[in-house]
Amino acid sequence: MNLPSVAPGQPLTSDLGEAMEFIRNVPIFSEIEASELAKIVRVGVRKKYKKGSIILLEEETGAALFVIISGKVKIVRTDDDGREVILSILGENDFFGEMSILDGLARSASVVAITKTELFMIHRRDFLKLLQDVPAVAVSLLKELTMRLRKADAQIKSLSLKDAAGRVANVILQLADDIGTIRKGRVEIDELPLQQDLANMAGTSRETISRVVHMFIKKNHLELQGNKLIINDYEKFKSLYT
Ligand code: CMP
Repeated sequence: MNLPSVAPGQPLTSDLGEAMEFIRNVPIFSEIEASELAKIVRVGVRKKYKKGSIILLEEETGAALFVIISGKVKIVRTDDDGREVILSILGENDFFGEMSILDGLARSASVVAITKTELFMIHRRDFLKLLQDVPAVAVSLLKELTMRLRKADAQIKSLSLKDAAGRVANVILQLADDIGTIRKGRVEIDELPLQQDLANMAGTSRETISRVVHMFIKKNHLELQGNKLIINDYEKFKSLYT
């Protein structure tokens, strides 16, 4: 991991209309009236991070919420030996940093840029006020948090009850939900994380990841093209292994 490399904050863009258009596309802000939207755009700042930069550190005090304008980040937790597990990968229009803002506790995980990343940052006080003023934002936020809880439940089930094939399949399906794109009816994961990352996510070894992925390829569920993994029939794969 590189040290944080943050460009000084700057307004989202000099063009208010363009900035509002961006914010409007962020699901948690999609229900807001134009006047409220303009307020958010005015109080938020844009920040740029290089690939590999640490954006948030687990255990730090939280003072802001971030929306991803472009790029991808990984949400990770580490142990005392420096081993890390990826909890989720977030991309454009996703948000993070809401947990410590809402409960006032320390950051629950670290957030690291896995590509060049541009963020829109809203200070705690402004975000909390927005939640009080615009109930639709609070409802959208709850919806997203519920979805994250469902995913975490699926991870717990998989790690506790499934065999190696089920655990690896669950990780692949999670990555497909997080960063996959649908092309010609198939789901493609363009930048597959390292085998060690997949192993930590599935609670298994690199050797098992390699063995199980090749078994899935042999059964025609998956295809590997360089660093790109393709799920041939997402629904069928999901129904067979989760
Ligand atoms: P916060 O605890 O403030 O800082 C770390 C952020 O990582 C956290 O808020 C959430 O936004 C995000 N995060 C933590 N756990 C998960 C998860 N399981 N899935 C997606 N995002 C998460």
